[in-house]
Amino acid sequence: MSEAGTVLTVDAIVGGYSTAEQILKGTSLRVERGEIVTIIGPNGAGKSTLLKAVAGLLTLSAGSITLNGRDVSRENALGRARHGMSFVPQERNVFGPLTVAENLSISAFLHPARAKRKADEMYARYPFLAARRRSQARTLSGGQRQILAMAMGLMTEPSLLLLDEPTAGLSPKAADELFEAVIALNADGLPILMVEQHAVEALEISTRGYVLVAGRNSAEGNGPALASDPDIRRLFLGG
Ligand SMILES: Nc1ncnc2c1ncn2[C@@H]1O[C@H](COP(=O)(O)OP(=O)(O)OP(=O)(O)O)[C@@H](O)[C@H]1O
Ligand SMILES: [Mg+2]
Repeated sequence: MSEAGTVLTVDAIVGGYSTAEQILKGTSLRVERGEIVTIIGPNGAGKSTLLKAVAGLLTLSAGSITLNGRDVSRENALGRARHGMSFVPQERNVFGPLTVAENLSISAFLHPARAKRKADEMYARYPFLAARRRSQARTLSGGQRQILAMAMGLMTEPSLLLLDEPTAGLSPKAADELFEAVIALNADGLPILMVEQHAVEALEISTRGYVLVAGRNSAEGNGPALASDPDIRRLFLGG
C-alpha cells in the first residue's frame, strides 16, 4: 500500500484486442483504500475492456497500472492476482457442471493449503452456498450464481476486487441483495472497482464514480453526486 492509501492507479492506458483498433484511448482512474468505485458508460464504451486491462488480460500499448504502490503493467494476470487483484468477469464466471464446493476449491489456486478454511469462511458469509455445496453451479439461481462468482473471487484473499456487471440479468430483489453483499465486503475493508449497468443504484453505494465514453474518461466524481447530476442523468442514466 502506498503512503497515500492508493490501492490502484490506472494512468492513461491505451489498448485493445488488435493493434489496428485501440478500445482504450488513454483511460485513467484510481481506487483509494476503503473505496467502492463504479464505472458506468454506454454499451461498447470499453468498460469490460478496461477491467480486463486492469486484471492483466490485455496487452497495453501505453500507460501504466500501479497496484498497492507496485507497477504491475508488465505482469500477467497471475502475477497481478499474486499481488492482490481478483477479477470477476461479466460472463461465464462460474463452472456450471462443477459443484459449488469444487468451484470454490479451484479458485483457491494461490493458497491451496488454505482452501478449506477459506471455503468455510464463504459458507459462513453466504449460508446458501453451504446448503448447496454439493449442487452443480448451473442449478443455482442467477443471483446465487453471481454471489458464488464473487465468493470464488474472494478465495485468493484479494486486496482489490474487480466486478464486471455483477447485477447483470438479475431481478431487482436479487440485484439489491448483490449490492448489499458488495457493501458488506467493502465494510470489512475490501476496496472494490466495479462496472455496472444499474448505474444509479451502483453510484449511490459508491464512494466515487467514472463515466467512460468511447474508451475515454468523460466525467468523474462522488458517487451519489454523479447519480443526481442532471447532465449525467440526462446523458447516461435515462433522465
Ligand atoms: N474479445 C474481443 N475481441 C475484439 N473486440 C472486442 C472483444 N471484446 C470486446 N470487443 C470490442 O471492444 C469494444 C468495447 O467492448 P466492451 O465489452 O469493453 O464494452 P462495454 O463497455 O463493457 O459494453 P457492455 O456495456 O455491452 O458490457 C466493443 O467495440 C467491442 O465490440
Ligand atoms: Mg461489458
